[in-house]
Amino acid sequence: MRVLSGIQPTARFHWGNYFGAIRQYIELQTEDAAFYFIANLHALTTVRDPDLLRQNTLDAAIDLLALGLNPDHAVLFVQSEVPQVTELTWLLMTGTPMGLLERCHAYKDKKAKGLTADAGLFTYPVLMAADILAYDADVVPVGEDQGQHLEVCRDLATSFNHAFGETFVVPKAKILESTGKVPGTDGEKMSKSYSNTLEIFEEPKPQRKKVMRITTDSRPMEEPKEPETDHLYQLFALVASAAEREEMAALYRRGGFGYGEVKKALADAAEAYFAEARERRAELASQPERVREILDDGASQARAKAQDVLDRAQSACGIKL
Ligand code: ADP
Ligand code: TRP
Repeated sequence: MRVLSGIQPTARFHWGNYFGAIRQYIELQTEDAAFYFIANLHALTTVRDPDLLRQNTLDAAIDLLALGLNPDHAVLFVQSEVPQVTELTWLLMTGTPMGLLERCHAYKDKKAKGLTADAGLFTYPVLMAADILAYDADVVPVGEDQGQHLEVCRDLATSFNHAFGETFVVPKAKILESTGKVPGTDGEKMSKSYSNTLEIFEEPKPQRKKVMRITTDSRPMEEPKEPETDHLYQLFALVASAAEREEMAALYRRGGFGYGEVKKALADAAEAYFAEARERRAELASQPERVREILDDGASQARAKAQDVLDRAQSACGIKL
């Protein structure tokens, strides 16, 4: 079984990205074959600063490795370093109904806001389909928000197979919803678009300041509170040990404590939780040639697989003479 997923290097990764996606990718890396890539071609639809895009792409690779992605188990590569995928995108684009893309939310939402979208954003789901089909992926773990794009991929694969004979493996989505939505510092869903994120590798001092500013309700300290519905507790629960979680939950139910104490405990627990990864990150950041080697090796394995699939697709539709 081949597992594959991609993540866009649009900003530094936050807790939502880690607990909602990256942690599960890392857990799945021992499947038969796991392919993970940094989707820089997708990011180009929003990041228009070349130095920033380059930096974000390398940072994303270093972050994933520091968080436990092991190149001995999983193939890690940069999307644009496999040009077979963009060739395959064209083959799929012919035969993609306009209506299918018009219904896709990234484009639809932008249009609904009265903004003009470019053709890159409009055809984004076709590039994503090529990303998946190029490697004969069986299972694609993604967040709930990407479910629609997986359906597009399945549609395009099925109709190509129908038109030209069995060519593509039709993949299954594995929607990651076990952790639910990670709340941001304002209690809404954590997202870079809402400026309410806690970044994984933010320096401890500024992160502690951010934690101390997390919004809380104004109920009196004496009142007992239900931990599970409080976003401060939800964040704490992600990074605390089981014993610390229980102790904190009991404190909530008993009442008579201040949110300041919880925030301090949260900042301490976060620092401890990511300490090892932070150390690994510093080590990797000081060895850019090692990171480059891992990405080169990943891209060459990915290109070999994608070339096989591209040959198959080109033969099927009559492009290969
Ligand atoms: P953002 O919302 O910050 O723009 P992305 O859309 O780039 O984040 O997120 C990439 C993946 O990270 C998503 O597909 C989703 O799986 C996961 N993710 C992002 N934010 C959260 C969150 N608050 N809770 C759970 N998962 C999240
Ligand atoms: N569109 C995905 C996101 O924004 C990233 C992505 C690109 C992806 N290509 C993919 C995810 C292929 C899974 C499979 O999160």
